[in-house]
Amino acid sequence: MPLLEMKHITKAFSGVYANEDVCLSVNQGEIHALLGENGAGKTTLMNILFGIYQADGGEILYKGKSAQFQSPADAIENGIGMVHQHFSLVNKMTVLDNIILGLGNKVVLDRKNAGEEVRRLGEKYGLLVTPEDRINSLSVGEQQRVEILKALYRNVNLLILDEPTGVLTPQETVKFFGVLRRLKEEGYGIIIITHRLSEIMAISDRVTILRDGRAVKDLITADTTPEELSAFMMGRPLSPKNKERKEPLFQTALELKCVSISKKHGGKKVLDSISFTVKKGEILGIAGVEGNGQKELAEVITGIRRSTEGSVFFEGEPLDRMGVRERFNRGISYVSDDRHRDSLVMDMTVMENLILRNYNRFPFSRNRLLDYKRAEKRAEEALAEYGIKTSGKSGIKTLVRLMSGGNQQKVILSREISEESSLIVASQPTRGLDIGASEFVHNTLIRQKEQGKSVVLISADLDELMSLSDRIAVMFEGRIIGIMGREEASVNEIGLYMGGVTGKELSHE
Ligand SMILES: Nc1ncnc2c1ncn2[C@@H]1O[C@H](COP(=O)(O)OP(=O)(O)OP(=O)(O)O)[C@@H](O)[C@H]1O
Ligand SMILES: [Mg+2]
Repeated sequence: MPLLEMKHITKAFSGVYANEDVCLSVNQGEIHALLGENGAGKTTLMNILFGIYQADGGEILYKGKSAQFQSPADAIENGIGMVHQHFSLVNKMTVLDNIILGLGNKVVLDRKNAGEEVRRLGEKYGLLVTPEDRINSLSVGEQQRVEILKALYRNVNLLILDEPTGVLTPQETVKFFGVLRRLKEEGYGIIIITHRLSEIMAISDRVTILRDGRAVKDLITADTTPEELSAFMMGRPLSPKNKERKEPLFQTALELKCVSISKKHGGKKVLDSISFTVKKGEILGIAGVEGNGQKELAEVITGIRRSTEGSVFFEGEPLDRMGVRERFNRGISYVSDDRHRDSLVMDMTVMENLILRNYNRFPFSRNRLLDYKRAEKRAEEALAEYGIKTSGKSGIKTLVRLMSGGNQQKVILSREISEESSLIVASQPTRGLDIGASEFVHNTLIRQKEQGKSVVLISADLDELMSLSDRIAVMFEGRIIGIMGREEASVNEIGLYMGGVTGKELSHE
């Protein structure tokens, strides 16, 4: 008997199906992958299972019994846990407090035992955490461990993981898969959503593929190939990668000279004497474990943050006194990795978000009036070009909040990468995108390069960096500790740099 059976699940939002007649079954001790393009309905299906939404039709059997969870608390009570892509931990509290949050007085009073139990679970599954640590002192990977422990502590048997590897470094992903294998050995059922086919091949036992809200295929991983998976997912094979590339031009587009950001109260600098140039027609990749100054670097180039020392030059001119909008008007665009905070107004429509940066200028604004027709046209073009899926019949008037994660990302990309931009600072541009959309973004960045524009590409995905960059710089603790041409760069070496091993130490090995 399967641990979970979802039968003929249907769910519509304002008359449009997000899930239509979907069947999914998961066994004990099985890692089951859910694959599908952005907006295919993966998160919706899991939200139904976890009691966030109620299905319009269909049936859920859990351990053979009919089940319909009214809320996440109800789902957890019955043995189902879910780790969302955006974590829901309370930053200022400790690991232990977060784990026992909401469990009632009994556990809170018996903190010592609870702490022991968390430690024991952590050791058993390789989810090492210190219960007394505060959440805001942890890396993303560590926070994810806490989320999983939180579920395990509640005695779940089935664990849903919605894009858990998107935020992890390659090394963390390897460790994380070790944890999943341990859980599988212990008989847990696991549902994992990921856009990376290599991960599906490496970790899953079975795969269910969703397309346009329908389950189109259920496959045993050992019997399939990445090519077959992508063909089922997209209804077409992936186009082969274009290996030929143009050399960068000679003119310098961007130059940083000894740029530093000191902390107000001393301590380590957030950015420490950063110097580099980016040529026209060049893609400079920035590798590094997240939190080593990449965000600050992006912000100091785009004008969100000021440096405390040093200067940023763009096309020969110092930028330091210019604000965000002035820099944007000069052609500097920013694709931020924190789309909710920096890039989107969640309660505005797709169309409004698309013209957010230039609504007050020609061609959208004439005589201080918004040319609504033109804005509509621009939005329709963006939808078509990027294959942006809006919700239901609302089309370009869909609120961004209601769109799937990948489709939100496409809205930002289509706004930021335009005719007018000559330098694009792109941070994790393909995070959360399906492979078709990632390929599209990669091609778009390469096209920018070929037109003589420049790109600073910050990414945690080494494959992405290696395949797109002309040179790769590695950041560690606010510094650039290595910079290399794409021919001489190796994943291994970059990995070592990312861990803070410098060139000197490397050559002494
Ligand atoms: N609360 C909601 N109201 C209206 N439409 C919604 C709502 N939640 C989801 N949708 C729509 O349902 C569809 C499926 O979305 P879902 O989030 O399940 O996709 P997904 O497969 O998880 O995609 P991604 O890979 O981008 O995360 C999308 O078209 C989305 O806009
Ligand atoms: Mg999703």
